[in-house]
Amino acid sequence: MRGSSPPRPTAPSPAEGVAGSATSLDTLLPLLAREQLEDKVVLDVGTGSGRVALALAPLCRRIVGIDRDAGAIEEARSRAARAGLTNTEFVVLDAETGEYTEFASDLITAYLCMSDAIIERAGRALGPGRGFGFVAFHEDHWLETGRRSRFAYDRAQAERALAANGFAIEHLEVDRRVQTFGSVEEGLAAAVALQERWKTDGRWFRYVEFLEGGGRTLTRSHLVCFARRR
Ligand SMILES: C[S@@+](CC[C@H](N)C(=O)[O-])C[C@H]1O[C@@H](n2cnc3c(N)ncnc32)[C@H](O)[C@@H]1O
Repeated sequence: MRGSSPPRPTAPSPAEGVAGSATSLDTLLPLLAREQLEDKVVLDVGTGSGRVALALAPLCRRIVGIDRDAGAIEEARSRAARAGLTNTEFVVLDAETGEYTEFASDLITAYLCMSDAIIERAGRALGPGRGFGFVAFHEDHWLETGRRSRFAYDRAQAERALAANGFAIEHLEVDRRVQTFGSVEEGLAAAVALQERWKTDGRWFRYVEFLEGGGRTLTRSHLVCFARRR
């Protein structure tokens, strides 16, 4: 969770706002799919409106998505119904206080919803040999806003948390994309959708300061991981 200046971004939840890049999801999905999911039950932690769950449903026997946001779960159910999927279930549950054992999952995934509490629960719920694939915010995500998310991971931290919970890492990579701008205005335009949220915790002002001080970048950085329960 450490890095060079400007300091790290911060966030109100382990699943900080904006959905991540197609790149990190594009990296994660094949790591999950190679697990031969057709006879497997998958648990998608922090499923939101079911984006990842709906993508995996045709590949697996059954998929359960959990999220603490009841509105998002309702939307996930509607989307699954509209898609004609009959092997999905969506449950309102706080992923950091509830347990996953009841879902009897063979594989657990999480896309931009990660914390030590989630890793601990995945470790308790998965049997030996079972897979855990996720994307977390990396420590450098939005570093230009001057604060780092308390839910962001660096490599060493992810390695420690996974080892402590009985996982052997098979894949760990940082997916880092840096947008560059020709002007302050371009930089502001690139983050305009984040403006309202960033204003609530000071990140917007630090980002403006960064641009006005000559900075011309916006970094998105995700940690993509696949680990297996020992
Ligand atoms: C960035 S969104 C990602 C949603 C989904 N995985 C996707 O890729 O579209 C993060 C999701 O995690 C959920 N979340 C955050 N903290 C949670 C918690 N403690 N328990 C359950 N869900 C949580 C949020 O409600 C949100 O739907």
